[in-house]
Amino acid sequence: MAQDHEKFDTAMATWQEWQDAPWGRLRYTLAEANLMRHLDEGPGGGPLRILDLAGGDGGDAMRLAAQGHHVTVVDLAPAMLAAAEARAEERGLTERVTCVRADVHALPAEITGGGFDVVLCHNLLQYVDDVPDTLATALAPLKEGGLFSVMAINRHSAPLNIAVRELDPAAALAALDGNRLRNEMFDSDLALHTAEEIIPVLENLGCQDVRHYGIRSFCDYLTDDARKYDPAYYADLERLELATTARAPYMHTARLFQLTARKGTTV
Ligand SMILES: C[S@@+](CC[C@H](N)C(=O)[O-])C[C@H]1O[C@@H](n2cnc3c(N)ncnc32)[C@H](O)[C@@H]1O
Repeated sequence: MAQDHEKFDTAMATWQEWQDAPWGRLRYTLAEANLMRHLDEGPGGGPLRILDLAGGDGGDAMRLAAQGHHVTVVDLAPAMLAAAEARAEERGLTERVTCVRADVHALPAEITGGGFDVVLCHNLLQYVDDVPDTLATALAPLKEGGLFSVMAINRHSAPLNIAVRELDPAAALAALDGNRLRNEMFDSDLALHTAEEIIPVLENLGCQDVRHYGIRSFCDYLTDDARKYDPAYYADLERLELATTARAPYMHTARLFQLTARKGTTV
């Protein structure tokens, strides 16, 4: 664990800059909107208990805590968790945000036995070797019937992204059958997956009612990034993304996929 977290700890400034950029804001806005389609009230109409695995500095957690839910952020990088704690403090959310330092593959008993209403596993799969094992581990703390949300980079977007942004059809062709993507921010070679591959894994783990959403179906294929900082242009783009997140064929080539599902009784 000692070295695993360093690449995340040292990239905090770049990561936070990415989150504040239009494409970062869209990623969190779309994820939240998709979760809202499925979030029930907690027992007795109260707040939900949400677990954000590999939750980083709490980009999703802050939004959910601001809605009144109790969110536990688990991450292995101390700098990420310190930033999550600082964000919770700034927003007056410390009562509703708990940070736990742990590796997702070695969760403490209070987390695995937590019986959470919702578990998020957003942008972790690209860093792990064994996806089925990671998803089974992530589902363990979720109560039966609870909501699971998993997000990862969409492999289908890689050749399109290269063709459109780098204007390089030869490199796009080479990327058609590739399954890795170099990420400079976290100095990592990321594993790429598709929703079509992950859906059967979830179903084999007993998940039900799996839904597929696309995160950034258009943004990454509009190459004028500077224009996205214009508030009116951004507002139009956000409306377009919200209108297409659950709409075929757009979600199939979006930059990321988000899958929501209910934990079944056989998991
Ligand atoms: C790209 S960030 C995503 C953070 C957050 N889920 C989001 O989407 O904003 C990836 C995070 O996964 C964490 N991480 C990677 N492998 C992990 C593991 N095995 N256990 C816990 N956290 C892990 C890193 O420390 C980092 O904070």
